[in-house]
Amino acid sequence: MKNSVNFNDKIIIALDYDGLKPVKNLLDKLEGRAFFYKVGFELFTSCGEKSVKFIKERGCKVFLDLKYHDIPNTVYKAVKAAGRVGADIINVHASGGTEMMSAAKKAADEASEDAGRHIDIIAVTVLTSLSDGDINRIFYDYNDYEEVMQGKGNEYGVCKEGISSGLALHLARLAKISKLDGVVCSGRESINIKKTFGNDFKTVTPGIRTKTGSDNKITNCANNSEDDQKRVMTPSEAFNAAADYIVIGREITGAADPADALDKICADIKNNVNTQKI
Ligand code: C5P
Repeated sequence: MKNSVNFNDKIIIALDYDGLKPVKNLLDKLEGRAFFYKVGFELFTSCGEKSVKFIKERGCKVFLDLKYHDIPNTVYKAVKAAGRVGADIINVHASGGTEMMSAAKKAADEASEDAGRHIDIIAVTVLTSLSDGDINRIFYDYNDYEEVMQGKGNEYGVCKEGISSGLALHLARLAKISKLDGVVCSGRESINIKKTFGNDFKTVTPGIRTKTGSDNKITNCANNSEDDQKRVMTPSEAFNAAADYIVIGREITGAADPADALDKICADIKNNVNTQKI
């Protein structure tokens, strides 16, 4: 049981680059170790479909992370185009609503049929860069603009602990109603989403952060105020919280030796993830 799960297939490396040269460089370094890559705004805006095709030609899968959020017709057409380009996972923002997500699902189904393989369509719930306080300020503190700008709250303004997990669950429900394949959420919400909507409803978890001690032990490094990611977990914590995939960017791409960084993460996963639960 312990070795039956191949975690390398469940780690998606975020290629946040502005050209194909660093992409090739990283893929060369991770050859035989990483098989799933994420193309986001920076790479797709810089290189377009060439970036997706380049990765696919190397036999790897692509999560096209363009977080569509627009009127249903526009999103429908964008998802069809993403399918044609070769994406294996496509995403939208759940806050676009059920009509938009249903249009995305229809497009993904049609694209899957055209491509002869299943393309997952998933929805971003609450960005992992947002804290409870951020969510409060964006969605709930709208009564008194002046106070919000001064960082004070109104009658709702005391940061509601757990507000992000409640909102993530609500948005996951809208994605489930729209028949999407799953959601992007933080590891903190993944287990509850799975319990509520079933194990087949996929969770993809970014916000992966590690701190490696002198004994090479990987521990959590939450509460780093310098970091843009706020709701973070280690890879092992995220898999133990039932994530189907984790997304790792700078922990690998910013490492002096990306292959070594990935090997250390995989070793930690092997030692600390309870595969009985997966
Ligand atoms: O470098 P880091 O590991 O923080 O990168 C995380 C990647 O996951 C980035 O490419 C970011 O755009 C993406 N992402 C995220 N949160 C989401 C969806 C995608 O951090 N909710």
